[in-house]
Amino acid sequence: MATRQIEAENAIAARPTTIRPNGSGPAAAASKFLRAIGQEELSDGDARTAAAAILGSDAFYRWLDDLIAVNAYSASFAEDFAQRNALDAVAPTRILTGAYNLSVETVFQRIAQIAAVLDPENADGWYDLADRIHAVPPLASMRLREYLTQRIGRSGDKKAHERRVAALTKRNPHAVFPTSPYRRSTGHVAASDDHGAVEAVMHQSTFSSIRMVDRVLDPAQPFLRDLYRPLGRCVCLLDTNVDSHHGDALSAYFDHHDIPLELLPYRAMEADKGLATVERMLGDFKRLGIMRNEPVLIAGGGVLADTGGLACALYGRNTPYVMIGTSIVTGIDAGPSPRTCCDGFGYKNLLGAYHPPVLCLTDRHFFGTLDEGWLRHGIAEIIKMAVVKDASLFDDLEQAGPRLITTRFGTVDTETGDSIDELSGRILAKAMKSYVEAEYDNLYETHQCRPHAYGHTWSPGFEIAAGLLHGHAVSICMGLGAHLSCQAGWISQHEYRRILDLMHAYGLALWHDILDDDDIIGEAHRKIVQKRGGNLVAPVPRGGIGQCGYLDDLSAEDIIGAIIDYRRDCEAYDAGGRGIDPLCADVGLEDPSTVAKSAVAQSQE
Ligand SMILES: NC(=O)c1ccc[n+]([C@@H]2O[C@H](COP(=O)([O-])OP(=O)(O)OC[C@H]3O[C@@H](n4cnc5c(N)ncnc54)[C@H](O)[C@@H]3O)[C@@H](O)[C@H]2O)c1
Ligand SMILES: [Zn+2]
Repeated sequence: MATRQIEAENAIAARPTTIRPNGSGPAAAASKFLRAIGQEELSDGDARTAAAAILGSDAFYRWLDDLIAVNAYSASFAEDFAQRNALDAVAPTRILTGAYNLSVETVFQRIAQIAAVLDPENADGWYDLADRIHAVPPLASMRLREYLTQRIGRSGDKKAHERRVAALTKRNPHAVFPTSPYRRSTGHVAASDDHGAVEAVMHQSTFSSIRMVDRVLDPAQPFLRDLYRPLGRCVCLLDTNVDSHHGDALSAYFDHHDIPLELLPYRAMEADKGLATVERMLGDFKRLGIMRNEPVLIAGGGVLADTGGLACALYGRNTPYVMIGTSIVTGIDAGPSPRTCCDGFGYKNLLGAYHPPVLCLTDRHFFGTLDEGWLRHGIAEIIKMAVVKDASLFDDLEQAGPRLITTRFGTVDTETGDSIDELSGRILAKAMKSYVEAEYDNLYETHQCRPHAYGHTWSPGFEIAAGLLHGHAVSICMGLGAHLSCQAGWISQHEYRRILDLMHAYGLALWHDILDDDDIIGEAHRKIVQKRGGNLVAPVPRGGIGQCGYLDDLSAEDIIGAIIDYRRDCEAYDAGGRGIDPLCADVGLEDPSTVAKSAVAQSQE
């Protein structure tokens, strides 16, 4: 089944991992271990005997040593696997660097995932052994550290093992007692002689795997099974609309793999995007006793991704999650995004935390049940990446046109392999790649040169008040940004028109009368300058479509003045560029502005 792969890491503290020319980097070390284990050990009928033979082997011991020593968060670590076309082995190998703390079942499951890429001939044997270990619960659930202490035969080995674990608690605590396999942090301090003054620097490293997958809920797809079966259950936040279309398939998938599923259905419309929703999720996590090494599964659109991700960031200060993007927006933008959030006091996405998913799966087959209005507004986020980062994506979007909507990204009324099918897959993959490159290079938004914030400068200040769907608010803001860029001489009139024409072709709004409200626009301008550390830094196309520059020296008055000209340009389009079904209410949603007004009123009481 088709997958497109991206591995990303945010490793501020990373040292380079050397890829040795003689082929002894991390991928070669894994291959060497796999080669050393023969069919005999794998197929020994008794799971206990097979586990003992493999975990007690010199080959495993040496590999474990290598894993503990390697910097699995460096760019060259992933690159070593990428060069061997073995990207699917990156995350399981990273997780195995904390193997001592993993259950025996998890260790074998991860090895099977690595074998699937590096030793495909024996992969079935590894998966089969993981299955047999799963069937012996006392063995399956025992941590490798304890297993090695209790089961290693000779007493001398046992003592040596205990000494080694004790030494690691000082030298490399992440190797023996990590809180979760997905995060590392380090730091250093300098102190004065009397210890009265201390200067400290802290680093955090984390990683994400992003995959374009076809039919992720087909029982033959291993992603969710490999992750959740060793954990013994899956806790899932599920968008109620997704539940009604795909809930049965989700339950059937977990039933098929005999994984208990704790379903937490949540209504997740724009009007629900407040702290109250996040708080309810936190209550559910507490009730279910979520662990900090147990990724919550979130399946839904952008509202659920943002609120569910925020609940995970808050719970235990840091709980991992896996994202299944079921809408366009979560598929390529909010899904892999580290910016989890909810609205606050009438302002969009005011409250939040930086917390990326550990795995993000985009499956366009979910798009088949999306309302046309949702598809349309989702395309705005793709146009955003095209205009400021990828001219070829812009060309693809022009070529595809509204067929993207009518065929729901090549999943309805389409033959596999025909032009719209191929174009749709390419458009999603390009948008995802551009987005991840821009986002993960600046995880904590520690600088504001962020191309993917195009269309998100003034819109947060008027989206809720106007009751607009997010994508239409973004397209209005992109149109205004393109106008300002053209005014500054950064793009030509022709390029400006191409941008407006493309958004219009997809039925996206260029205009809403809220732009005439000088108070709202003035306040939107002030708020975004506050949010961006005192600067406007508005990303807009510069030097042509597909390239980005930043407007910074514009005042609120300049924007209000420019809007008068921009309105004239919009009037040339159908309905004055007001788009098709631009409001939440147009697609049957509660108007978020009514919810926001009551929140603002409460905050002022
Ligand atoms: N964190 C970020 O970086 C980021 C980026 C972009 C957008 N966002 C946020 O995302 C939100 C918009 O996302 P969205 O477009 O997914 O909206 P949404 O979450 O409101 O989902 C749209 C609607 O479609 C339904 N839905 C989702 N998947 C479905 C499916 N497969 N079949 C049928 N119905 C389905 C949802 O229940 C909802 O009613 C906004 O709140 C925006 O602020 C966040
Ligand atoms: Zn957005």
